[in-house]
Amino acid sequence: MSKRKVTVVGAGFVGATAAQRLVEKQLADVVLIDIVEGLPQGKALDMMQSAAVEGFDTKIIGTNDYQDTANSDVVIITAGIARKPGMSRDDLLNTNSQIVGGVTEQIAKYSPNAIIIVVSNPLDVMTQLAWRKSGFPANRVIGMAGVLDSARYARFIAEALECSIKDVRAMVLGGHGDTMVPVPQYSTVNGIPITELLPKDKIDAINTRTKNGGAEIVSLLKTGSAYYAPSSSAVAMAEAVLLDSNRILPCCALLSGEYGVNDLYCGVPVALGKNGVNKIIQLELSADELSALQNSVAAVRELAGKL
Ligand code: NAI
Ligand code: 2OP
Repeated sequence: MSKRKVTVVGAGFVGATAAQRLVEKQLADVVLIDIVEGLPQGKALDMMQSAAVEGFDTKIIGTNDYQDTANSDVVIITAGIARKPGMSRDDLLNTNSQIVGGVTEQIAKYSPNAIIIVVSNPLDVMTQLAWRKSGFPANRVIGMAGVLDSARYARFIAEALECSIKDVRAMVLGGHGDTMVPVPQYSTVNGIPITELLPKDKIDAINTRTKNGGAEIVSLLKTGSAYYAPSSSAVAMAEAVLLDSNRILPCCALLSGEYGVNDLYCGVPVALGKNGVNKIIQLELSADELSALQNSVAAVRELAGKL
């Protein structure tokens, strides 16, 4: 089997941690690229020197040259600025659209067959931008947010029920912002919906904490945003692609009529494999859930209009 190759663009907190998870899991050889000279090279060298201790045979190099990224199977884009306290993800729009637009053009040039996983915020709009700039079919450009938001939801559910996180499956739909939609009826403990296990006021409190999950961490860190769970989530998506596992994960994907939405990237459950999005799963939603999703879609569309 030929070696798999993943490029991670942006050697900051999310990018470097994602690269570390990829090589330690031996999922692929990794190219870590950043605009800052020396930063990706230094981090890659440091990670390679952990190989003897961690025991991985995968390789990582750092670079500032897109030629080194050529023919990647998967590209994870984390380049851009992150939130500081008081900033919303949407405040990042102008700066990050310049960065993500430029990066995507380089990626599309050197890795025309790659699957692109966008992480940079504001996520839904940056994914839409990357799709346009790449010229790739929509199934090969996906955004990471739902896996992270659902992981946070699962953590809070496990805490409330004092149960093992291994038994919790949680579902968050919609845009990666304040309007995201946690869906209790599809959030279960070994198949039992949490609506049968927790009172409504407790579920409402967990839903609110989930929606504010990113801001809660920004307010604690003060100098940046979360990166351990975000990097895990991006790598979970890359793994589904590299192993062609067809996992069903909530991802930011282009909607073409699903959920009544057209021509917009937003978070929905998808089946993910070597071709990227194999299928968008359409869930039966209650009237309230559908209305919350429509509200979230409207917020994403409004922001996309500002591009
Ligand atoms: P960071 O500031 O630690 O790293 C960003 C890196 O991008 C820096 O090393 C910077 O030099 C690099 N960069 C800037 N312009 C570049 C360019 N043109 N080409 C290549 N590299 C470039 O930020 P962090 O914490 O890693 O976050 C990265 C992005 O991911 C932010 O936009 C953040 O909001 C977003 N994010 C999204 C999440 C999601 O759920 N979708 C979760 C966590 C973060
Ligand atoms: C998060 O949710 C900042 O979008 C990032 O942590």
